[in-house]
Amino acid sequence: MNLSARLRETAEPPIPAARAWAARYAGGAGPALDLTQAVPGYPPPPELLVRLAQAAGSRDCAGYGAIDGDPPLRKALADDMSAVYRAGIKAADIAITAGCNLAFAMTMAVLAEPGEAVMLPAPWYFNHQMALTMQGVRAVPLPTRPENGFVPDPAETAALMDAHPVRALVLVSPNNPTGAVYPAAVIQEFSEICRARGTWLVLDETYRDFLTPEQSPPHGLFGDPSWRDGLVHLYSFSKAYCVPGHRIGAIAAGPAFRAQLAKALDTWQICPARPAQEALAWAVSGLLEWREGNRLLMADRAKLFRAAVAQLPGWRLDAIGTYFAYLRLPEGAPDALESAELLASTQGLMTLPGPFFGPGQQRHLRLAFANAGAEVLAQVPGRLAALG
Ligand SMILES: Cc1ncc(COP(=O)(O)O)c(C=O)c1O
Repeated sequence: MNLSARLRETAEPPIPAARAWAARYAGGAGPALDLTQAVPGYPPPPELLVRLAQAAGSRDCAGYGAIDGDPPLRKALADDMSAVYRAGIKAADIAITAGCNLAFAMTMAVLAEPGEAVMLPAPWYFNHQMALTMQGVRAVPLPTRPENGFVPDPAETAALMDAHPVRALVLVSPNNPTGAVYPAAVIQEFSEICRARGTWLVLDETYRDFLTPEQSPPHGLFGDPSWRDGLVHLYSFSKAYCVPGHRIGAIAAGPAFRAQLAKALDTWQICPARPAQEALAWAVSGLLEWREGNRLLMADRAKLFRAAVAQLPGWRLDAIGTYFAYLRLPEGAPDALESAELLASTQGLMTLPGPFFGPGQQRHLRLAFANAGAEVLAQVPGRLAALG
């Protein structure tokens, strides 16, 4: 059968692959624990669910909407971003998308041609690399190291860019899979490196609502109005508002980028789902306190998880952040793919092995601790210990 070579080259969806290993689990270690996917472990608040239901039942929301999103949500996000980044971001800077993954894929279609290259720090978010492969764009890996907290080194980045010219550098902070938070000054340096080379900076801040007040504002890039000439900013409503099934994300970018993006938006989404946009336009300011409560809850889970893993001989917590722990396997354990399969099939503990996130990750596992409560997290060390 004649199917697209680019799609055949693209990696299989990782989460179902990891869950499939658990199908062989006989249940001996207790109930299966799924720490594969970054989904909030708590439900959306009832007030949001009521608004979603009302909007879904309205005739207005049944019709097509504006290509780049309905104005109230664009305005609400622009105001929220202006407060977070202490900058003047306008509704006109914002396009609402059917999720942040689509935002990334469309961004890449605007920025890069097939055969060109884009730089991704490794380990990377697997769907970013998959989106590039699908579009015939090469991913140039930018190594990161545990001893630097998995934050890429600006000087190394500049040298690598000079040796391998790329159309864009993609940064994810707080990071998936490591949880690393890039310091504001480092993000600024990356912006300058990109500017000097005419390279776009694409910054995915899907997890920014989980930063501590000390980590905010996450950077000062929006303070310089010329950000619109070199930065594309990506956001997801999935995590902060606990609505990943409603598929709403956003792009903040300047007018030249947006003019080309409009073609991708029109073709790939026509418009984002309208009931969720209506409910979220209320939620952005209406759920400020609820969001803050979740930030504190996530910080508690990270603390709990850190303490639990600290008791485990041989295991090393190389990084932990908002949603993820990036664990180094003990010396004697098999490589990550085999270890993850063993943990899922014999211990009922589903994790994602490092190689799903790029080259050089054979000794790491990613655990999305955020989607589990304290009682689940308490069981994790016992299951991991079976490997070590
Ligand atoms: C860094 C990053 N970007 C984007 C997404 C996808 O977000 P959405 O559900 O809005 O497509 C995720 C989800 O895990 C993510 O970790």
